[in-house]
Amino acid sequence: MSYNLLKGKKGIIFGALDTQSIAWLVAEKCHEEGASIVLTNAPVAMRLGVINQLGEKINAPIIPADATSVEDLENLLTKSMEHFGGKIDFILHSIGMSLNLRKGKDYTDLNYEWMQKTMDISALSFHKLMQSALKLDALNEGGSVLALSYIAAQRIFPDYNEMADAKALLESIGRSFGYHLGTHKKVRVNTISQSPTWTTAGSGVKGFKEFFEYANKMSPLGNADASSCADYCVVMFSDLTRMVTMQNLFHDGGFSSMGMNPALLNIE
Ligand SMILES: NC(=O)c1ccc[n+]([C@@H]2O[C@H](COP(=O)([O-])OP(=O)(O)OC[C@H]3O[C@@H](n4cnc5c(N)ncnc54)[C@H](O)[C@@H]3O)[C@@H](O)[C@H]2O)c1
Repeated sequence: MSYNLLKGKKGIIFGALDTQSIAWLVAEKCHEEGASIVLTNAPVAMRLGVINQLGEKINAPIIPADATSVEDLENLLTKSMEHFGGKIDFILHSIGMSLNLRKGKDYTDLNYEWMQKTMDISALSFHKLMQSALKLDALNEGGSVLALSYIAAQRIFPDYNEMADAKALLESIGRSFGYHLGTHKKVRVNTISQSPTWTTAGSGVKGFKEFFEYANKMSPLGNADASSCADYCVVMFSDLTRMVTMQNLFHDGGFSSMGMNPALLNIE
């Protein structure tokens, strides 16, 4: 069902790699709600080619950008404004990648060059994106910028490895830049801390299947799936949340407030 919540709005969506990507569902729902979209992903992700199907489906151009490259980001923002014939109302940063995690390096044995790449891709890119948008004056008054995070930024989930530190930095950048974009043009900046979700990035974490089941049982509402995350993103991009900014918003079926759930101990 569509409510036309984003009628006439223009947005850029990073991170749709395949049909399971959270960003893929966000792009579809934003389109359903009346928004015009520009899709973007890293040039290497283009090689998969699947993003073209999404572009055709929602009538969105695809502009490649490595989110760690300021030059690419400036090009993306400039070309998007040309395409839209105006400034941008919302942006989704749905980007995460850990080299140490991918290559099986333990948190106590990190390769620091890889760690710097992880921080650049998964956290600093959010700063680069907002700094570029500010310099180009690319955002409309009252706009909304979102990034996706995970509760390992606050609590220890050992197998999440260095991504925990990347998410802590990402959330901090959201708060810090939220001040500047808020005073500049009443633009909101928030992070959504999402449940474990079956995607390429998610399922790359060691023991993901078992942990997914654990989180599902711990949460009174169960794990939030990618589709409900997309619904939440739509609301955060809409005019219904104009006064929400600099927040890390848990979208996790209640997981973050739980201490213990009897369902997990089999004592109910
Ligand atoms: N899946 C989960 O369990 C889960 C839970 C909480 C938060 N998140 C976060 O959600 C976001 C989206 O991840 P997902 O689960 O949809 O997985 P995904 O693998 O579908 O998306 C990750 C995206 O990051 C992109 N990316 C990687 N390096 C890039 C670069 N240099 N420049 C531009 N893009 C780059 C990838 O191409 C991919 O599209 C990530 O921030 C992730 O950490 C995921």
